[in-house]
Amino acid sequence: EGGAAPFVPEGAPIDVLRDAAAGCRGCELWEPASQVVFSAGPPAASIVLVGEQPGDQEDRRGLPFVGPAGQLLVRAIRDAGIDPAAVYRTNAVKHFRFEERGGRRIHKTPEVHHIVACHPWLHAELGQLSPGIVVALGATAGRSVFGRPVRIGAERGRVLEGAIPDSTAKALLTAHPSAVLRMQRDPGYDEAYAALVADLRTAAAAAG
Ligand code: URA
Ligand code: SF4
Repeated sequence: EGGAAPFVPEGAPIDVLRDAAAGCRGCELWEPASQVVFSAGPPAASIVLVGEQPGDQEDRRGLPFVGPAGQLLVRAIRDAGIDPAAVYRTNAVKHFRFEERGGRRIHKTPEVHHIVACHPWLHAELGQLSPGIVVALGATAGRSVFGRPVRIGAERGRVLEGAIPDSTAKALLTAHPSAVLRMQRDPGYDEAYAALVADLRTAAAAAG
C-alpha cells in the first residue's frame, strides 16, 4: 500500500514502463482487477489525454478508452479535427476500481489515496513524453496532473502554463467523457458534448 514508486523503473521508455506496470502492487486495486491498463498511442504525440481509470471493457481488453465513454471521447476527438491515433491516451489510475452488484461490476470513483499511489506511473510517463499539451479529463485526472484538487466548472477550457509539477508542457482541464455520456437523455447533452469538443479544439491549437 506504499504507492507505485518501488515498481516504477525511473527513466525507462514507455514500453518498459508498460511491462513493469503489470507487476505493480502499489495499492489494493490490482487484486480484483483483470489486468493493468497502461496507455495507448505514440510516445511522440503532441497531445496527451489523461482519463480517470479504466472501465469494465478496458479492464477486460487491457486497452484505455475502448468502452462507451472511450467511444464518445474518440468521436469528440475526431469532431475537434484531431486524428485519434495520433494522441497518447492514459489514465490517472491504472487499475479498474469497481463494486460487484447483482453480478455486474459497477465503476467506483478512485479515492485521493489511489490517485496519489498511482501517480508515479503518470510522472514517469510524462518524463518520457514531450507533448505540447496535456489534457486532463475530469476531476480525478486533474487531481493527478496538477497535483491539487480541481473544479471542472470553474477551471475548464483554459490553456495553462507551468501548471504541471516537473513538466514544461501546457495543460488544459475539461470534463470527463463519462460525465457527458451520463447526460445522453438530458436536454443539456448537446451543449455538454459541444463544450468537450471545443475544449479539445483549444488544446489542439495550443499543442503546436
Ligand atoms: N474512462 C477513463 O477515464 N479511462 C478509460 O480508459 C476508459 C474510460
Ligand atoms: Fe499500482 Fe496504480 Fe494499479 Fe494501484 S492502481 S496497483 S498504484 S498500477
